[in-house]
Amino acid sequence: MAITSNTRTAAHDIDPVFLNRWSPRAFNGEPIPQEVVMSMFEAARWAPSAINIQPWRFVYAHRNTPQWEPLFHCLMDMNQAWVAQASILAFILSDRHRRKPGAEPSENRSHSFDAGAAWAYLALQANHLGWAAHAMGGFHVEKAHTALNAPEADYRIEAAIAIGRPADASVLPESYRAREAPSGRQPVESFVFEGRVSALT
Ligand SMILES: Cc1cc2nc3c(=O)[nH]c(=O)nc-3n(C[C@H](O)[C@H](O)[C@H](O)COP(=O)(O)O)c2cc1C
Repeated sequence: MAITSNTRTAAHDIDPVFLNRWSPRAFNGEPIPQEVVMSMFEAARWAPSAINIQPWRFVYAHRNTPQWEPLFHCLMDMNQAWVAQASILAFILSDRHRRKPGAEPSENRSHSFDAGAAWAYLALQANHLGWAAHAMGGFHVEKAHTALNAPEADYRIEAAIAIGRPADASVLPESYRAREAPSGRQPVESFVFEGRVSALT
């Protein structure tokens, strides 16, 4: 059964929570109460991970605090333009290794996969609480490793995340306004296969 929410239509029956989460750029700059921030990270905490290693790490700052500037300056200009009105700027990292007392760290093949699940949980919880989380790959990776005190050998910096209260598109610089709408998706049949994947064309 098709369901529609947030201008999006799902071809199969799903909970509207998946349609309602989207990635706005227009934020009103409203400070986020700390208990709300912790609620978002709490949701991330309950993501599944390989042998429950929980390799995700978050580094965050509230806007208008000394911690904000070093993080903000890791973003590419195209993202700084709108993140300036976000309330929280976070980075999600993953620990590349499985660490056990008394043993050498070993490779954790699914560190990024598991961090992706944690990001998704956080974003869904943000939306559930009336806020929005917007992931970004547009940041200076080397700069971020330094700013976050996260050595490249230990951590992969997966994404930056802007969190804020959604606002009207009119608060954005003019060139960003037209894209400020929930996006669509490819049909399920284009990425789901029974038995074996289709040859790439
Ligand atoms: C890993 C990742 C990197 C992204 N990088 C950026 C970015 O640098 N700037 C930006 O404005 N949006 C970025 N996005 C947002 C995507 O464009 C957005 O999630 C996608 O178009 C789907 O739209 P929706 O999240 O509104 O459903 C990124 C999203 C992800 C998950």
